[in-house]
Amino acid sequence: MEQIDKTVLITGGCGFIGSHLVRLFVTKYPTYKVVNLDAMTYAGNQDNLKDIENEENYVYAHGSICDKYLVDKLFAMYDFDYVIHMAAESHVDRSMSNPNVFVETNVMGTLNLLNVAKHHWTDKSDRKFFNMITDEIFGSLSVDDKPFDENTPIDPHSPYSTSKAAQYLFGKTYYEAYDLPIISLCCGNAIGGYQYLEKLVPLTIDRLVNKQEIPIYGKGKQMRDWTNVHDICNAIDMLVHDGCVGELYCIGGDACVSNIDLVKLIIKEYCTLTNNKQSEYEKLIKFIPDPRGKSHDFRYDLNHDKITNELGWTPKYTVEESVHETVEWYLENTEWCEALKNRDNSYKTWVTYHYGDNFKEKK
Ligand code: DAU
Repeated sequence: MEQIDKTVLITGGCGFIGSHLVRLFVTKYPTYKVVNLDAMTYAGNQDNLKDIENEENYVYAHGSICDKYLVDKLFAMYDFDYVIHMAAESHVDRSMSNPNVFVETNVMGTLNLLNVAKHHWTDKSDRKFFNMITDEIFGSLSVDDKPFDENTPIDPHSPYSTSKAAQYLFGKTYYEAYDLPIISLCCGNAIGGYQYLEKLVPLTIDRLVNKQEIPIYGKGKQMRDWTNVHDICNAIDMLVHDGCVGELYCIGGDACVSNIDLVKLIIKEYCTLTNNKQSEYEKLIKFIPDPRGKSHDFRYDLNHDKITNELGWTPKYTVEESVHETVEWYLENTEWCEALKNRDNSYKTWVTYHYGDNFKEKK
């Protein structure tokens, strides 16, 4: 008979960070049963987990975190020890044009999970509910400000970050009001393979591969803290086993760079790996009017002292190493990219809608 030591619910496990986390838990902990609840929205991709989908300790449940009946049934079936809640509407630009779905998933979906956990977890010992938040809830830093930390006041500016701030506050409130064992995780920009192509890093690589223009909002001066997705998953792994309930942990990457510098780094790496001329490919950069307007925060940066001091976690990858690994991954997985683009119309529709006349797409 299969030995099961722990049961883990990971929501959004077919997404970018979620799929890395599912893979880590399924392979590292053969005696943990890992249930992946994913609604398979445009951002979900079952190809992300092809290599582990037949493992005995892995279960895929198709459905939404908003589906009370389904979530309740999963809790009744598996009596989860840990919930790692990664499912989210995560694209800031999409939140500008359709805020409602961000509230439905990030706020109402989270509330549904919290309510079901509260109902089932009458015995709370050793259980943990991880609520995945973003550095964007803290607002914007200037170049000289100290990075955000666990005590920074909340000040979100986009529909996305406001929905995540609400998600964070509901988690915190359920800890305070109902003693639910919540741990909040705050991450910055993740970098690595399997990220949906609409985000800056995979978009840039895909456009280099196809020799198409690379869109940079404004002058590309905004700064983001880039953490390798493996570092993020390792931090979550440590927190699952040794993190303190009721706490917020910031998982920063020590890698805050401007968008234009990051894109140039990607181009340099791409040209080295493909033996192309960097200056030729830099000509593809196209500065376009900033669609985020005043809500485009200037700088995010996260201090990770708390998790370092408590658990010894530090980011292992420099931004150069992450860019190298990621460009290589996309070059080795062009089939994955093409399958995603041809799976349905959602990527092409988004590019046409969002970038509009800024690009003349290749036919
Ligand atoms: O900071 C953490 C956040 O990082 C997460 O909470 C979000 O879920 C995740 O999507 C990411 O948000 P960003 O908005 O920072 O990611 P994105 O890759 O869309 O954009 C990175 C930066 O690049 C941002 O300043 C906007 C800019 N950008 C983005 C795109 C898509 C461009 O200049 N051109 C583009 O075409």
